[in-house]
Amino acid sequence: MIEMTSHTNDKSPLSGVRGRILSFKSNPFVDAPEDCYDYFPDGLVVMRDGRIVDVGEYADVAPRHESLSADAIDRYEDALIMPGFIDCHTHYVQSPMIGSFGDTLLDWLNQYTFPNEIRFADKDFADNAARMFFRQILSQGTTTANVFATTYASSVDAFFEESERYGTRMICGKVLQDRNLPDALRDKDADESIALSESLLEKWHGRGRQLYAVIPRFAPTSTPRQLQLAGELYRRYADKGVYMHTHLDEAENEIEWVMSLFPDASNYTDVYDHFGLLGEHSIMAHCCIVREEEWQRLHATGCGVAHCPSSNMFLGDGEFKYWEAKKSDRQVNVGIGTDVGGCTNFSVFRQLGDAYKVAMLRGKSLDSIRSFYLATRGGAETLRFADRIGSLLPGYEADMTVINLRPSEFIEWRLNFSDSIFDKLFVLMTLSPDNLIRATYVSGNKVYDSLRPHKFLYASEIRHYNHL
Ligand code: GUN
Ligand code: ZN
Repeated sequence: MIEMTSHTNDKSPLSGVRGRILSFKSNPFVDAPEDCYDYFPDGLVVMRDGRIVDVGEYADVAPRHESLSADAIDRYEDALIMPGFIDCHTHYVQSPMIGSFGDTLLDWLNQYTFPNEIRFADKDFADNAARMFFRQILSQGTTTANVFATTYASSVDAFFEESERYGTRMICGKVLQDRNLPDALRDKDADESIALSESLLEKWHGRGRQLYAVIPRFAPTSTPRQLQLAGELYRRYADKGVYMHTHLDEAENEIEWVMSLFPDASNYTDVYDHFGLLGEHSIMAHCCIVREEEWQRLHATGCGVAHCPSSNMFLGDGEFKYWEAKKSDRQVNVGIGTDVGGCTNFSVFRQLGDAYKVAMLRGKSLDSIRSFYLATRGGAETLRFADRIGSLLPGYEADMTVINLRPSEFIEWRLNFSDSIFDKLFVLMTLSPDNLIRATYVSGNKVYDSLRPHKFLYASEIRHYNHL
């Protein structure tokens, strides 16, 4: 694991954010939902050096911090302060082709995704896409994401460089893919691809808040040799908290293809298992069509799963069944993924409205308590980060988003007819209005402010801005 060192210096100034606060502290799929969160109608988060120092009701917390001056507190009326959202699976490199008319998964990959990703060999193109991607996710309240780059080192460097400018906690890595895709995108040699991945790992893993993932795209686009070497690389760095990130059991014809390529495997999960790719830092995207024995293996090895409902509907994959993942005797950690560009937006919040509808198609529902847990602390548990992000607690990293409870005249009026904060959140996740995010904080810095002339500011620019 990365050391959780605190750089808090008692002499650094305190700052604060005041308003309604909602934060989860445990799992409502296990514990009584009403015991799983803290809600402070007039709350205060106190921060220093990018970490939370104190949180609670303003009237209790403020007197404990005499040195916290009133002008160092950002106050939000008609808003809800929550931990930043966590996107457990996305592809920043697919930002240029999001919303492409297409077909089902495998044709969509060939027709749009692969030709698009070839453009990331050009570092300038990658820089530009990374810049655009971060602006989209920060304005949607996402502060951490588990992200696919693509084949080229340029695509990884561009992403982490932009993340460093904002100071976001991000996971990314080179995509390993050495068969069944266009030549220009294909790794030409399995051993060289792993050496390149390892050199990027050494460059980026643990540098500031950046973390690295070993990423075989999915079983069909890697030779057995590449999967073997990827498993060895992952295990070599397992004690340093390096991740493994891939796709699993997304669509029927994908699963059939995997079984024809790996006829000795007993199921799709078994392919990754065979090559040593399952473990506590392994994140599997989709998992729409999963057999019982696969769930058991995912549970036993500690893998996490990213539920990507918008993408699953857009590509006609199938439905993720959270009630199967959450069977009480073999629970699997689940977070929310946007899966840009299979999905149609960059918002974790919007995924929740889709997750509800996907569950309803199967005669289940997903209430807003469990939904917002999945979007925050559930994502952090899935990414094995729940000791530092995903909740607003003392010692945690100060990543927050401020949800606007008056994004429009109509929504303001509609929310009058819902009483509890979770009833209001259900309306918001279902109607998914525009202008929903008022501000986003990363390590205590307000990197996005919907009302500021410069909506987006890098960490270094904020220091300058605050001194003007
Ligand atoms: N499976 C392999 N690659 C991809 C991808 O880029 N998107 C999705 N949704 N599934 C995949
Ligand atoms: Zn994906």
